[in-house]
Amino acid sequence: QSGVNSLDTFSEEEQMFRETVQRFAQDVVGPRVRDMDENEMMDPEVIKGLFETGLMGIETSDELGGAGASFTSAVIVIEELAKVDPSVSVLCDVHNTLVNTVIRKYGNKDQQEKWLPKLSESSLGSFCLSEPASGSDAFALQTRARKEGDNWIINGSKMWITNSYEADVFLIFANVDPSKGYKGITCFLATKDMGIEIAKKEQKLGIRASSTCTLNFDDLKVPAENVIGEVGKGYKIAIEILNEGRIGIAAQMVGLAQGAFDKSVPYTYQRSQFGQPIGTFQGMAFQIAQAATEIETARLLTYNAARRKEEGKDFTKEAAMAKYWSSVIAQKVSGSAIEWAGGVGFTRETGIEKFWRDSKIGAIYEGTSNIQLQTIAKYIQKQYS
Ligand code: CAA
Ligand code: FAD
Repeated sequence: QSGVNSLDTFSEEEQMFRETVQRFAQDVVGPRVRDMDENEMMDPEVIKGLFETGLMGIETSDELGGAGASFTSAVIVIEELAKVDPSVSVLCDVHNTLVNTVIRKYGNKDQQEKWLPKLSESSLGSFCLSEPASGSDAFALQTRARKEGDNWIINGSKMWITNSYEADVFLIFANVDPSKGYKGITCFLATKDMGIEIAKKEQKLGIRASSTCTLNFDDLKVPAENVIGEVGKGYKIAIEILNEGRIGIAAQMVGLAQGAFDKSVPYTYQRSQFGQPIGTFQGMAFQIAQAATEIETARLLTYNAARRKEEGKDFTKEAAMAKYWSSVIAQKVSGSAIEWAGGVGFTRETGIEKFWRDSKIGAIYEGTSNIQLQTIAKYIQKQYS
């Protein structure tokens, strides 16, 4: 049984979500994982299936076409998808925890009524913050917006944008008044048909089915009604959403570690050397036990951060810890999983090596591990100095 753990605090609805996603992941995603990785392309049937299964508006209310479910449900979905394919997991994660949440939390009623149903039904979203010269230093972004009549005109480029190859909706962070520093950053909602140019699609080490593109905006005209939240408050929108989003990436890494574990451990009881199953040698059994414990620690950190968020408690430090630790564990466990399966684990046929390639991104996106440690360190300093 995948993901056996001591957490038993899930509601009936959350358990149902887990089962629905598990079925979807096994039936629809599973058979396509290898091809999507080899072709470096998301299968449109997977995206269609995610929408049809009700996984693209998890926290959006029923009235606006979503499932009206908890944040923990969104985290469960991300974890379960990552057990089968971390690329599909991040597609769903960005769409729900970054894009939908920005509109749910900061959009006005008209914007929510206009965009959330589309985003639950068929329009894929992307979150465009990073640029070639501003990754960790995200608020130094160079994309500019100027007002002309009833429109904003956006010029600049974004880099590393997940989902952007398939997306219809783009949340773009641009500075309207650089003299104010980051207090000029504003969040705009643009659609593909407004004229967003996809300049480059990256070829990557891992999560290869997830698209990552550079986008150019050349006098991109966005109606003034598409400003999300207040002008000049985009920086706060970005980081507050990322605080939450980091719990999603932590869940992706927990699922990934569990997926690698689930693929490799059964093999260790089937394969014999020196007349006994390799998994029963103490040198192997203890590694497996340690990995199970490490996955559990990462999972507990992740769901604790999610529950704190739901309960309205401060969760920024806990989210940073969860993301930092889960990405360490994901890389470690998926690396061990290859070794447990020996030569077989090193081949692309088993799919174990893919988890290891995919794990590397956990320490990079939605704030690198150093950025998470910096966030944790700030809390410690505040508390102890
Ligand atoms: N939560 C809330 N507010 C925060 C915050 C946090 N974690 N960190 C900073 N802020 C606020 C500060 O309070 C301050 O606002 P006020 O002036 O209103 O008080 C403002 O941000 C600037 O603070 P700092 O000077 O301390 O921040 P900085 O400029 O040194 O860096 C940061 C801030 C850019 C947010 C940086 O800490 C960071 O997190 N960088 C990583 C960027 C990132 O995560 N990018 C992800 C892109 S999306 C993505 O990656 C998606 C994907 O792959 C799937
Ligand atoms: P840099 O910021 O240049 O960092 C390089 C190294 O320097 C890192 O090890 C970092 O920890 C270290 N470093 C930097 N500053 C400090 C410091 N102050 N203290 C200590 N160490 C430091 N962005 C989006 O906006 N939307 C997306 O959808 C998105 N998806 C992505 C998908 C992929 C596959 C990738 C690779 C990236 C994606 N990103 C996205 C961008 C991602 O958030 C950035 O890559 C990340 O924030 C790091 O920025 P950088 O790549 O410029 O690295």
